[in-house]
Amino acid sequence: GALPVGVVPEEAVRTIVRPPRVPRPRRYLLCEPLHFEVRYAINAWMRDAAPVDRALAQRQWATLVQAYRDHGHTVETVEPVADLPDMVFAANSALVVGGRVFGSHFHAPERRPESAAYEAWFRAAGFDVRAPKSVCEGEGDLVPVGGWILAGTGFRTTRETHREVQEFLGLPTISLQLVDPYFYHLDTALFPLDDTNVAYYPGAFSRGSLEVLRRLFPEAVIATREDAMAFGLNSVSDGCHVFVAPQAEGLIEQLARHGYVPVPVDLSEFHKAGGGIKCCTQEVRP
Ligand code: ARG
Repeated sequence: GALPVGVVPEEAVRTIVRPPRVPRPRRYLLCEPLHFEVRYAINAWMRDAAPVDRALAQRQWATLVQAYRDHGHTVETVEPVADLPDMVFAANSALVVGGRVFGSHFHAPERRPESAAYEAWFRAAGFDVRAPKSVCEGEGDLVPVGGWILAGTGFRTTRETHREVQEFLGLPTISLQLVDPYFYHLDTALFPLDDTNVAYYPGAFSRGSLEVLRRLFPEAVIATREDAMAFGLNSVSDGCHVFVAPQAEGLIEQLARHGYVPVPVDLSEFHKAGGGIKCCTQEVRP
């Protein structure tokens, strides 16, 4: 039927408010949890953690790999190394943007040998790897959004590394101060939804850093502490589908309301080590 002049049809409003979310196929690098366990405590989650059920961890990890493939993404794997129980957290191995690989230098001595194992994978895959001069835990703290790098510090990656990353990539690198030991990596407190927006938990950031986030992302999805503690912000988005912890119920609802498609994948065994979906996923950006 004809609408009165000045009345916008509901269809049109929906299009304006909620443009269709467009997924972009990604290349992901993961590491099978063959040797995964909680053997030492280098973050708040690992203290008094219940023992890992490795068979369950393997099944959960396989589900994540399948979910990525089912949504059109490429999954490659690096050979797991015995005695490196945290090597499953592939996101910490590097930051890859525009085919440039900025490697890792772990804060904890227990994890330092992981850098060489991943570097070997990158070299075999045809990449040069730039070795950081200071502590750097890859995408754990270095999160590309659009043409910027959001860079966490406070527990692991240093500000010296932030400066080095900016010089290496030529991308504005914005330092954000983390203040809560449960959110020791930036990727436990914030994730990019697409090239222009993010979701985050405000309580993980210093006052000034929170102000920076509010200025950069006025439309951000704001998560509760409960959803953040459920590793809801350790999610991976392809611009449409969000691979997210099913325990983060409130966040899942919010994402759906914003037009994203939540794809719940349960990595509860990995939470014992302080990691989730994003920690297990290194993105190789062309
Ligand atoms: N146990 C690991 C550590 O404390 C977990 C790393 C989680 N990775 C991440 N990208 N947040 O280093």
